[in-house]
Amino acid sequence: MNPDLGKLQPYPFEKLKALLSGVEAGNNAPISLSVGEPRHSAPDFIQTALDTHWRGIEKYPPTRGSDELREAISQWLLRRFHLNNYPVSPVDQILPVNGTREALFAIAQCLLDRGSNKQVVLAPNPFYQIYEGAIYLAGLQPTFYNLDAPRDDTAPAGRPGYWDNDDPRWAQVQLIYICNPGNPTGQVMSKDALIELIELAERHDFIIVSDECYSEIYRDENHPPPGLLEAAANRGQVSDDKTPLDHCLVFHSLSKRSNLPGLRSGFVAGGQALIEQFLLYRTYHGCSMSPPVQAASTQAWLDETHVVNNRQRYNEKYEAVLPILAPVLPVEQPAAGFYLWPDLGMDDEQFTRDMYNRYNIAVVPGSYLSRTVDGVNPGKNHTRLALVAELEDCITAATHIRDYLAEQQ
Ligand SMILES: Cc1ncc(COP(=O)(O)O)c(C=O)c1O
Repeated sequence: MNPDLGKLQPYPFEKLKALLSGVEAGNNAPISLSVGEPRHSAPDFIQTALDTHWRGIEKYPPTRGSDELREAISQWLLRRFHLNNYPVSPVDQILPVNGTREALFAIAQCLLDRGSNKQVVLAPNPFYQIYEGAIYLAGLQPTFYNLDAPRDDTAPAGRPGYWDNDDPRWAQVQLIYICNPGNPTGQVMSKDALIELIELAERHDFIIVSDECYSEIYRDENHPPPGLLEAAANRGQVSDDKTPLDHCLVFHSLSKRSNLPGLRSGFVAGGQALIEQFLLYRTYHGCSMSPPVQAASTQAWLDETHVVNNRQRYNEKYEAVLPILAPVLPVEQPAAGFYLWPDLGMDDEQFTRDMYNRYNIAVVPGSYLSRTVDGVNPGKNHTRLALVAELEDCITAATHIRDYLAEQQ
């Protein structure tokens, strides 16, 4: 057996199941705010595309995907992230992936060098647990940086709490995972914060893996969150022997953007040499995308109407829920994502048990999504509320949470 398997922690939802085993559920109809699984309907045109292209299953699909899909992705990236100065080539800078989860895992196996004298791989805290498992199974150890660590006012907006720019430890870094916008915080890194990180990556020769799967669920139609490629391509000063994306990889998904978590469709894009190695790895890995899924994904990346509607529905939920919770919790709508991540001012496991026992509401304890770093666990006493349930259910849940917390105060 691979001994690194022993380093994997149970997934947060397994811990949640264990926490709630033996706890009796409240009498109310169940409401789940625990799993970040979108529940708005998938666009109808996806079914049409799957039906029309179903005979594609009679052939082995190439790992690099169809020209149509890569072209649609390239055009989407160009429009969404203003890449006119440096368009991402559909030929050798984009690969389809079967959901970003597998790709965020596989990229560590592909790029990390366990024999290197640089042994540091950075990951955010709180975080999406795949990063941690990917790093362990690539033979290295994660070094976590807290997202909400105190920083000075001169730092660019949304800069996570990783080391100061002149810290010598950056020289030991092979790769950093960032989650932008963040799950569960909804925090968005500004373009300046991204540029600062790209400059560090160039100076110390490490790779930035940017998980941008929440990039399309944002609050303000006029201010979409910036992405890593956007920051890299538009910053202007790159030396002759480098291209702007040499140290950058972004991961985008249709799961949250288009309500297609079961389609298993996303892509990775970035530096040509990195994509070339990832294609080689994936050829052996054997994870090409089914042709009907590729055809449906092409249609999804070409359409924005359903994405705008989707955002509106999340915004409606925030508008309804925040005034209910505000008297008892420090909450405001995050810049992006579909979560609330409040400090409860009480034990997060106790809160979770009580929510389930009294009201049949499922939430995740914040400490299940984070680790203790330098004596601080940023998830302690927090909860993650995923506003994925129907609007009425979100309102009901918020009302119960308010009543419960008011009782505790
Ligand atoms: C931060 C983050 N990244 C990546 C994923 C994976 O998404 P998918 O594999 O559906 O593309 C998720 C899913 O919940 C997530 O929360």
